[in-house]
Amino acid sequence: MKRRPIIAGNWKMYKTKDEAIAFIYAVNLSVPDKEDVESVICAPAIFLRDLVKREGENLRIGAQNMHFADEGAYTGEISAPMLKSYGVEYVVLGHSERRTHYHETDEFVNLKVIAALNNDLTPIICVGESLETREAGTTDAFVAEQVKKAYQNMDAEEALKTVIAYEPIWAIGTGRTATPAQANDAIIAIRGVMADLYGRDVADQIRILYGGSVNVKNVDNLVAMSDIDGALVGGASLDAEHFLTLVKAALVKTRT
Ligand code: PGA
Repeated sequence: MKRRPIIAGNWKMYKTKDEAIAFIYAVNLSVPDKEDVESVICAPAIFLRDLVKREGENLRIGAQNMHFADEGAYTGEISAPMLKSYGVEYVVLGHSERRTHYHETDEFVNLKVIAALNNDLTPIICVGESLETREAGTTDAFVAEQVKKAYQNMDAEEALKTVIAYEPIWAIGTGRTATPAQANDAIIAIRGVMADLYGRDVADQIRILYGGSVNVKNVDNLVAMSDIDGALVGGASLDAEHFLTLVKAALVKTRT
């Protein structure tokens, strides 16, 4: 089953406006064809307008979060229609940093995924276990629960428009990457959950990324794995050269 790979940078709360714009100009002409690999930068909300205006043919811009309501009295929040009206195409949802620091629950994540789809945005749904859970040997059960809750009230057609990112919390920003086999096994298990929910056909088509300390040194071995369809990358996506190396590494998926 051929699945178009995705490399999505998650800038988190880094860069100033000038740095963000300089990055886009530095990568625009060098990112591979979007038919071969989807190259996405998920930037802080305040930069989105400037970045979408300057994105090249093969680069796409995403947000890092959004509210689940289309509008309302939610001071400080940003809605899916707002993102869409600026030409944003992807949105990271349920990142572990948001679950941890802002108490985002599975129920919230589910509502946000539905809102994203209703507004024609591609949600990148993050799931992943803590070190405690991994050491207790209950990773698959924990992640399965997160996945099932994220996909409540969604049919197969909608599910096919989503992307999942498996991001073990212990690997995020720690320099401690999951081994390619660990990441692949967890992703195969997630595909199994999707097969239970929507059937094998759908499970085989959904893109599932790995995230957690992906860098220019380890990316090749990760994307070479059967079920890893690319990466969600924090730290290493801040550097233009590194980002380009990462997206080019994902071309291996297209060529094989
Ligand atoms: P990292 O972050 O690549 O810096 O570990 C990944 C993420 O949080 O998506």
